[in-house]
Amino acid sequence: MSAEIENHDNHNHSRNTPFSTILERHISRRRVMQGGLGVAAATLFAGFGLPGAVRAATAAAGEGSLRLGFDSVPGSLTDAVVVPPGYRAQVLAPWGTPLDADGPRWSDELALTPELQARALGMHHDGMYHFPLDPAQASRDFLLVLNHEYIDQQALWAPSGGPAHADEGARPADEVRTEINAHGVCVVRVRRDDSGHWTVVAGDPHNRRFTSATPMELAGPVRGSDRVHTAWSPDGTRVRGTNNNCACGYTPWGTYLSCEENWPEVFINRGTQTPDQQRLGMPAGRGRYGWETARGGSEGEFARFDNTPRAASAREDYRNEARAFGYVVEIDPYDSESSAFKRTALGRFRHEGCWPGRVVEGEPLTFYTGHDARNEYIYKFVSDKRWDPRDANRPGERYDRQAIGARYLDEGTLYAARFNADGSGDWLALTPESEIPGGGPAGERTLGEVFGDQAGIIINTCDAADLMGATPMDRPEWGTVDPGSGEVYMSLTNNSDRTAEGTEPTFTDGAAGIGALGAGFDTAPVNAANPRPDNDFGQVMRWREEDEPHRFAWEVFLFGAPAGADDDINRSGLTEASEFASPDGLWFDQRGESGEGILWIETDNGIDKGRDNAVARATNDQVLAVVPEAMGRGDTRRTGQQLRRFAVGPNACEVTGIFATPDRSALFINIQHPGNWPAGDDATRASEGQVRPRAATVVIQKEGGGAIGV
Ligand code: FEO
Ligand code: CA
Ligand code: CA
Repeated sequence: MSAEIENHDNHNHSRNTPFSTILERHISRRRVMQGGLGVAAATLFAGFGLPGAVRAATAAAGEGSLRLGFDSVPGSLTDAVVVPPGYRAQVLAPWGTPLDADGPRWSDELALTPELQARALGMHHDGMYHFPLDPAQASRDFLLVLNHEYIDQQALWAPSGGPAHADEGARPADEVRTEINAHGVCVVRVRRDDSGHWTVVAGDPHNRRFTSATPMELAGPVRGSDRVHTAWSPDGTRVRGTNNNCACGYTPWGTYLSCEENWPEVFINRGTQTPDQQRLGMPAGRGRYGWETARGGSEGEFARFDNTPRAASAREDYRNEARAFGYVVEIDPYDSESSAFKRTALGRFRHEGCWPGRVVEGEPLTFYTGHDARNEYIYKFVSDKRWDPRDANRPGERYDRQAIGARYLDEGTLYAARFNADGSGDWLALTPESEIPGGGPAGERTLGEVFGDQAGIIINTCDAADLMGATPMDRPEWGTVDPGSGEVYMSLTNNSDRTAEGTEPTFTDGAAGIGALGAGFDTAPVNAANPRPDNDFGQVMRWREEDEPHRFAWEVFLFGAPAGADDDINRSGLTEASEFASPDGLWFDQRGESGEGILWIETDNGIDKGRDNAVARATNDQVLAVVPEAMGRGDTRRTGQQLRRFAVGPNACEVTGIFATPDRSALFINIQHPGNWPAGDDATRASEGQVRPRAATVVIQKEGGGAIGV
């Protein structure tokens, strides 16, 4: 996402020790221990009894056979995608591409309408995944499912010179409908021909859109709760739309998971805000695009964006509308008649994405999630039901995958993460029975006494995590799981909340939220052990579950930094060939039976976002690659030395969304919010003049074919 919809407010006023403080303690501890012949690693990772440790122990770089087969491309500041020599990059499925065979061809003058936009690719592509129809054709013909995170009103309304009444007055109803339809999720069939050229299969019966107005189901603990009663769904079971869908996930039974991130700002409440509205950052004035101001429509089509209580009961107004947002949304791409289900058991917050852990027959399934906001938390959900391989996806068959989803995703336990300075971590269960360390704000003993039931805990997920002592993180973005070892990687993109050395921490009195215990942490100063005020550059971390239930071990994998920064900032020793900042998209790309793989890293640091740092002045956002060493044996400086830049995006974009075809011959990435791109089918070509910018999926392949990256 760009600065346009990023929320930089700190809504966590708990006293919980932030990750930045834990990290500096951890680094101090490691430095002390490393004085003793690598005792640190031996101590930190003693006790890993996981089967995956066997794989990990043999997969250290230099011991395995996997090598990156390209040289780092230089940084780039152009209106074009850059890829290594011998590769090509094709623009596929940009915003406005019609889903139907008779849809209008794109032109820079095309005026979108609600109807056209509802049957075309939306704006600002983000997370995406692939679903084969025929496993034998999985690398050349599949359903592409992708998120449309938000919109660029100037590009959307370019033919009419911009949006009407953008900042004041009533928005025209059809402009609002079009904007709503430019958000959401798209299912579209794509296919490669023998020359390696990819196309959208217009008119395929699977092609469909979910928008911020599509009716869908609430599922899990919140379904039917009186906390989500609205005039449109008096029994609290349904909602219209999914909004600001950022990253994604997938399930072993063949469904797509779309995650609602920066949705609070499209709603408003002019009255007294509820604790969850305060905590998640709902505005009191005009919504992000003023959708609530449009007139007309029926059944609260626009009024639902205004959550101000107006009637005698919640069944007669839209005070609860936003409580049906902030979830992981499950979509079955194979059944074009199926509803989407919001799987509320996985928590309610600004969900970045949702990543499945290692799948083992007879074991519960695990899904990792993160809340992308300053000082917010990392979570995991563990299913009650144990994995039955008979539930595995049967591509191309039409059956009720959402019924399978209900069995794994509606019942289970949600946990928040606490990171300890010694490299260990604890998963803190968020259930009514969970005993609150130190008691609740009014002396309550359990989360159930504070929040009532599991629905109450879910609606107030962040406050429940506060009370249990979760660790505030530096903005969790994407995660990914090494399917061999089960190790989880996650980007912490940046955090502007750190202050200069010698300053005092600041606290907020009477802070908002049930979890705020009177006064809370707002900022923390750097110290000698962690001299990175404002953490402008971010880092990638990783952790591994331990045998002991609810315990994990963690380490920092890689620090972002400018090449020219001193060692205390550039902790991974990055050079001009590898410098990066604000890591975001991640994908662990397992290759072959050895379990080795490539970790792909995408960045969201662009200079357009006000982050005028040395990396942004050197290169546009990018895709990097590294073959990770085993956890506990890795060294963040050696990882930095092995990191290579694979691709660079055009000016003003972020690079996000990533997967490769099963044969690894094509890497799919998304270029979001470019400034003056694309100029045609060739993603590496810059326009002669100014084009109407369009987010697009880009396919990177080798000239002549073969596995990418090696
Ligand atoms: Fe939508 Fe946190 O990126
Ligand atoms: Ca992101
Ligand atoms: Ca980001």
